[in-house]
Amino acid sequence: MIIEPRMRGFICLTAHPTGCAQNVKNQINYVKAQGKIDGAKRVLVIGASTGFGLASRITSAFGCGASTIGVFFEKPGTEGKTASPGWYNSAAFEQEAHAAGLYAKSINGDAFSEDIKAQTIATIKADLGQVDLVIYSLASPVRMHPTTGVLHRSALKPIGGTFTNKTVDFHTGNVTQVSIEPATQEDIDNTVVVMGGEDWSMWMDAMQKAGVLAEGAMTLAYSYIGPEVTKAVYRNGTIGRAKDHLEATAATITEQLQALGGKAYVSVNKALVTQASSAIPVIPLYISLLYKIMKREGIHEGCIEQMDRLYRARLYAGTPISLDAENRIRIDDWEMRDDVQAEVARLWEEATTESLVELGDLAGYKNDFLNLFGFGFEGVDYLADVNEVVSIPSIS
Ligand code: NAD
Ligand code: NA
Repeated sequence: MIIEPRMRGFICLTAHPTGCAQNVKNQINYVKAQGKIDGAKRVLVIGASTGFGLASRITSAFGCGASTIGVFFEKPGTEGKTASPGWYNSAAFEQEAHAAGLYAKSINGDAFSEDIKAQTIATIKADLGQVDLVIYSLASPVRMHPTTGVLHRSALKPIGGTFTNKTVDFHTGNVTQVSIEPATQEDIDNTVVVMGGEDWSMWMDAMQKAGVLAEGAMTLAYSYIGPEVTKAVYRNGTIGRAKDHLEATAATITEQLQALGGKAYVSVNKALVTQASSAIPVIPLYISLLYKIMKREGIHEGCIEQMDRLYRARLYAGTPISLDAENRIRIDDWEMRDDVQAEVARLWEEATTESLVELGDLAGYKNDFLNLFGFGFEGVDYLADVNEVVSIPSIS
């Protein structure tokens, strides 16, 4: 069928298989153009189908030449209904990896469950023996706890008081005030259960017990800090509590992995347009101003540029990994530069529906958003009749 974007609120209901494949190819070409990375050879990516996880998988495979296993939760297409973008991305990734002679298998299901952990461990045992690197890049609004069976729902709320600030509807460009009511203690606890470090630690524990972690294995999860203007709703809000927990978990896991000389790190990444970040109020306005400034300065990066730099300049630079005072890897260094943040703060005051057209990069935001679903890529014929049912080689 002919597939067009169908927007509803902060999501797009359709995805384009050829466009998603183009997105994956573009990312592969970017990494290949930077040259080889002397890094991990057997990599597990949890949350491998979109955003930072997909970019990590691509960098592992096409930078390091690694065998990869990707875990994700995506919907396949059916007659007349497109798949979720991560499904098409993963199909394209596997095809490209196999064509390049690289091992790649995928596991589709709930990564929070014991069953998916067991399936993944069995696949590692059977095919790779062990892994050297585990990337933990899940972003989910819900988590079914594997031992209690309780379904926890995360919240994106400030803590302690109502938060009021500007936001933009990136579809219309309308800048308005938004007020978000403070979280209850239950909201905070639930968000920590969903997006904190417990599941990461459960994965590492299960893998260590099963003997599928190599000597000196490394694991990485992703965090965010961000600017003053989003602090109340992000870093000092419910999601920030979860990120505090995730960051603290790195130290616990490192201790747990001592016997095999393993290490756990958190990398603080840059703000980017992803399905997860588009749903957080205030963030889209911040991102549209940030993009404008970073593009002007020539320091703008997308997921693939971020992950490529993470591997090349931090993880496998051949020097001890540089960490901040809280033991975190910082790849948000360019976003957080004083001059960049000062300019964001200045533009933030001036931003209105009328002025944002000039001050911000709404066009870039919208384009990135469409790209998430495989739309808006050069070289893709969007008028062509395409098959919406695509299989992932290792799954079907
Ligand atoms: P994303 O939505 O693009 O990717 C989420 C991934 O998790 C997908 O592969 C999805 O299939 C998978 N997933 C979700 N629920 C799952 C489940 N139950 N079982 C298995 N897989 C599941 O998100 P992203 O923006 O790439 O975020 C990844 C990490 O990076 C998060 O920790 C996020 O907080 C962090 N981060 C994001 C930003 C940003 O601006 N987007 C910035 C810094 C850090
Ligand atoms: Na991801």
